[in-house]
Amino acid sequence: MDFTDQRLSYEKGALDQQSVPASPFELFKVWMDEAIAQKVQEPYAMSLATCGADNKPSVRIVLLREITDTGIIFYTNYDSAKGQDVAANPNAEALFFWHELERQIRISGRIAKIDAEKSATYFQKRPHDSQIGAWVSQPQSGEVTNREVMEQTFEQLQAKYPENTTVPTPTFWGGYEITAEHIEFWQGRASRMHDRIVYSKDDNNNWQTKRLLP
Ligand SMILES: Cc1cc2nc3c(=O)[nH]c(=O)nc-3n(C[C@H](O)[C@H](O)[C@H](O)COP(=O)(O)O)c2cc1C
Repeated sequence: MDFTDQRLSYEKGALDQQSVPASPFELFKVWMDEAIAQKVQEPYAMSLATCGADNKPSVRIVLLREITDTGIIFYTNYDSAKGQDVAANPNAEALFFWHELERQIRISGRIAKIDAEKSATYFQKRPHDSQIGAWVSQPQSGEVTNREVMEQTFEQLQAKYPENTTVPTPTFWGGYEITAEHIEFWQGRASRMHDRIVYSKDDNNNWQTKRLLP
């Protein structure tokens, strides 16, 4: 398959270094609100890149669950392949691509487990069967013989924890926060003259912006 004739012109917006807010989180929230208003499907879905001890990058989608004052939070299995990567190397990057808005946002920084209590609060808010699913998928990314094995475990756990009973929060499951060190906002423009504004923390912990060549 050859896609070399396929191209779109991006003409929906612009990004001006002089008029961006002082905090990247402010701009992130504005862009997220616009993505929601434009009905982007799963605007919270982000590609998460990690790189473990083998120096080989891995990328997968996870769901953004919270924007904090310092970064972004998602939830996963701590024993998963990504969990093992970040245990060996705490540098990570998340990417949002919202085609409908011709925008991408890249957030990189160091990743760390959030407070266990906060993870438990969120786990207990999840639908009952998703809670059971988290127990079935242990260790996430490990090999399973076939789907029947997963389904049997699921049924056994449903019998053990019927609807309206509490599913215990697994210690192997919880949130990670990427504390942002760089946040890049990318707005597609015509003729590949895209706008890229990146925020980085200076030595005094203040955000500074730069425009990057597209
Ligand atoms: C839309 C979407 C949302 C997802 N959200 C999550 C999530 O929030 N947490 C998670 O652990 N996996 C999520 N996944 C599954 C991951 O992409 C991945 O398959 C899984 O976490 C195992 O990744 P790993 O083997 O690299 O650790 C999601 C997948 C998709 C397509």
